[in-house]
Amino acid sequence: MRKSEVVYGARMAGAEWARAYAEARLRTLGRRWAHTVAVANRAEVAVAVLPEAERDVAVAAAYVHDIGYAEGIATTGFHHLDGARHLRELGEQRLANLVAYHSAGCWEGQIRGLADELTEFDEELSLTADVLTYCDVLTGPSGQPMELRARIDDVERRYGADHPVTQSLKMGLPVLASRIEGVDRRLAALASEIAPIRR
Ligand SMILES: [Fe+2]
Repeated sequence: MRKSEVVYGARMAGAEWARAYAEARLRTLGRRWAHTVAVANRAEVAVAVLPEAERDVAVAAAYVHDIGYAEGIATTGFHHLDGARHLRELGEQRLANLVAYHSAGCWEGQIRGLADELTEFDEELSLTADVLTYCDVLTGPSGQPMELRARIDDVERRYGADHPVTQSLKMGLPVLASRIEGVDRRLAALASEIAPIRR
């Protein structure tokens, strides 16, 4: 039995496909793949806050959230949009919507002058979308866990203060922080529910 079947009691066709697809497209990018795997590993834990029916798509989204950086997929330089368009072409509309707006996608679209293009996709305001953002923004470029402010500082060091990625994270900071807090609160509530079983 695979680990996914043990954890979720069901086969994870979507996430299994997403893992294989992302690996094929991102593995050669080195750190980007290490980051992706770490985001997905984090998602496998964080999806505990979601209804069972949402867990597979959340892990799948974690695997493909940076697919827009892959060679042959990166077109505009705005990886949210490039990734979402690619996923739509593959018939993965839900994943496309999640990827389009993950983390600071909406602010980066504004800064890059690509906000209209991003409206090709529907922004999903959901706990599933928050879990994706939570896992991404709290995972560093090599896959190491990072707090939000440390992550933004790291992006600023690597990209520079004027880069759209840096600026969009700073613009989105209050919203991102509140989404992280919401997921953290739910994870803490689950931990306290489980704790009595361990005693
Ligand atoms: Fe990411």
